[in-house]
Amino acid sequence: MADTKRRALITGISGQDGHYLTRFLLKRDYEVHGIVSCRAPGIGEAGERLYYADLADGSNLGQILDKANPDEVYNLAAQSHVRLSFDLPQYTADVTGVGVLRMLDAIREYQQRAGKQVRFYQASSSEMFGKVVETPQSESTPFYPRSPYACAKVYAYWQTVNYRESYDMYALNGILFNHESPRRGEAFVTRKISKAVARIKLGLQDKLSLGNIEAQRDWGFAGDFIEAMWLMLQQDVPEDYVVATGQVHSVRDFLDAAFGHVGLDWANLVETDVNMFRPAEVDILCGDATKAQEKLGWQPKVSFGELARMMVDHDLELARQES
Ligand code: NAP
Ligand code: GDD
Repeated sequence: MADTKRRALITGISGQDGHYLTRFLLKRDYEVHGIVSCRAPGIGEAGERLYYADLADGSNLGQILDKANPDEVYNLAAQSHVRLSFDLPQYTADVTGVGVLRMLDAIREYQQRAGKQVRFYQASSSEMFGKVVETPQSESTPFYPRSPYACAKVYAYWQTVNYRESYDMYALNGILFNHESPRRGEAFVTRKISKAVARIKLGLQDKLSLGNIEAQRDWGFAGDFIEAMWLMLQQDVPEDYVVATGQVHSVRDFLDAAFGHVGLDWANLVETDVNMFRPAEVDILCGDATKAQEKLGWQPKVSFGELARMMVDHDLELARQES
């Protein structure tokens, strides 16, 4: 009998969103293939459906597409740390920006070889709104990027639109606001805080050093947001969507929620490290996800407080193992 499973290829499968999206798609009976970078463990020994590639080097993307034979491609790979992008602006532009062009070109050629259409999801970011020109930000809000990372994402956004319009490709942007989880990288502020809360509570750490705690973000749960990625690719017509909770909180609020969960007052436990400040800051982001709600039927489920508690509980478990 012919194999009728839908096939997805995920770049950045080892990252936070790759983790949740893989599980989501497997539950829907997809055959999931993934691209990992040369920084992944077990180099050269990837499994049957894992491929080594780097978005800075497009040489083997075509071969990978031939092997994976995907119906849907989720491009999650990126140098995704905003602060780091100021130290590595050229690398970030190459991977996070031009890397998307490499993938789009590889898919365009693959579609001709394979005689089928691929649906392409680009992981665009609320950082593109940067120094915001209106609040809340929606699909029609102009971009004002404030970092090399955000500039690279704007480039990738427009290349995705350009390939859709020039070559009639099914390609779209999900403009996702910040989303977190116990799988969040430890260099991002929420996870840095939840990990420190757990380690301080268990006596493994004394202090937590942070940068600008007045910054405000629209934080949601990654497990909710990846569902929106999938819903976008199920629509007949490819369009770009904002995905956000519409609720704004400061880093200070996250400190309250996370330390409060274990009964600690953070006032004497948190110190300022000027090295964590960015040359240009994004002060506040707040998304308007009305289009995603109305057209995709998408809604966030996990609240800010639940998210903070979930992350602290997970890190308490890790800290207990450490101690
Ligand atoms: P993440 O945890 O940092 O994961 C990024 C992934 O990209 C990792 O698996 C990483 O693999 C891979 N990668 C990095 N450089 C690569 C390269 N040169 N070639 C191939 N793979 C490379 O990011 P995330 O939070 O899951 O986010 C997923 C995507 O959504 C990213 O593009 C991010 O910019 C974007 N985004 C995230 C958010 C958010 O709040 N999380 C919001 C909007 C947009 P290695 O670790 O092996 O390098
Ligand atoms: N990382 C970090 N570390 N951020 C800190 C710290 C610290 O010690 N102290 C304060 N902050 C502030 C940052 O200055 C920023 O204003 C805010 O906390 C959030 O920082 P991050 O968690 O690093 O996330 P981000 O908003 O810069 O970027 C994330 O979200 C984007 C979507 O808006 C990343 O996931 C990006 O890849 C994503 O596109």
